[in-house]
Amino acid sequence: MDKGRAKWLLPALALTAVLAASPLIAQINVDGVIKYRQNVMKALAGHVGAADRLVRGQVPLMDQLELHARAAREIAHTLPTLFPAESIPPEAEFNGATVSTDALQAIADKPQAFKQAAQDAIEATDAFLKVVQAGDKKALPAAFKRVGEACKACHKDFRKDQE
Ligand code: HEC
Repeated sequence: MDKGRAKWLLPALALTAVLAASPLIAQINVDGVIKYRQNVMKALAGHVGAADRLVRGQVPLMDQLELHARAAREIAHTLPTLFPAESIPPEAEFNGATVSTDALQAIADKPQAFKQAAQDAIEATDAFLKVVQAGDKKALPAAFKRVGEACKACHKDFRKDQE
């Protein structure tokens, strides 16, 4: 093979590989995505629930509060990534979901409101972490309450009612 052709061979092969793979990239494991976000939510609830006991002064381990505030904040920042359209009913069923999800179709129908609900949780956990880091004990209950309200507000509009 002459050098001129060899120069193009590799990029051409790479392009072919990318094009061939693109339908696969678009395809997601819907069950995996649903289970993943439910576990992430549980982790978030674990940290917020632990912080709750500390904020109430029930546990003499206040030095661990920052750990939970930081984890909750880090997790809250992933919220906008957890709900791809393919994993929201009824799309989820069309895409072969076999596990149940409490996510409501409203997530797909009202993307702006959903984005805002996620943003509110991000800002609430950002603010809570700052209060914890500042050691501002007086501001703790209100900052923590704001976090809980951000969870509830999103669940009210975008999560199936829990019996
Ligand atoms: C932007 C919206 C939104 C915010 C904010 C949000 N959640 Fe959720 N959460 C959901 C949705 C939607 C589901 C249902 C997910 C599913 O079943 O696929 C859910 C599910 C859950 C679950 C059940 C997980 C399971 O086992 O199935 C828990 C626990 C939870 N959230 C806790 C929290 C806590 C604690 C916060 C606040 C710190 C929070 N969530 C903030 C939307 C949100």
